Amino acid sequence: MFRLVQESVQNAIKHAKTAEIIVNVEQASDVIHIHVRDYGIGFEPSAIGEESFGIVGMRERIELVNGSITIDSEVGKGTVVRMSIPIP
Ligand SMILES: Nc1ncnc2c1ncn2[C@@H]1O[C@H](COP(=O)(O)OP(=O)(O)OP(=O)(O)O)[C@@H](O)[C@H]1O
Ligand SMILES: [Mg+2]
Repeated sequence: MFRLVQESVQNAIKHAKTAEIIVNVEQASDVIHIHVRDYGIGFEPSAIGEESFGIVGMRERIELVNGSITIDSEVGKGTVVRMSIPIP
């Protein structure tokens, strides 16, 4: 979870061109929800280059613990990374 938040926040710092990044962590009975949101420049997911491994790595990590991840981004509006991790 630390690595997932770290990469999401690092991406917002590195790419979003905004000073405001909101990290929200919520624990329900058997799942932890993490949202990392920024209101920066956003991006087009299909335009991700081949030298980018951060998001690929996040997907692999989430898969290992049977969690889920969605990344919603809109150019000019910002990005939100939503992750859910089950607690065994
Ligand atoms: N929060 C964000 N705001 C704007 N663009 C983003 C954001 N997160 C990711 N991106 C875009 O998606 C691309 C892929 O991100 P990814 O983390 O996979 O690679 P990277 O950050 O470029 O490199 P790496 O994580 O391997 O050091 C980025 O290069 C950037 O263009
Ligand atoms: Mg990255």
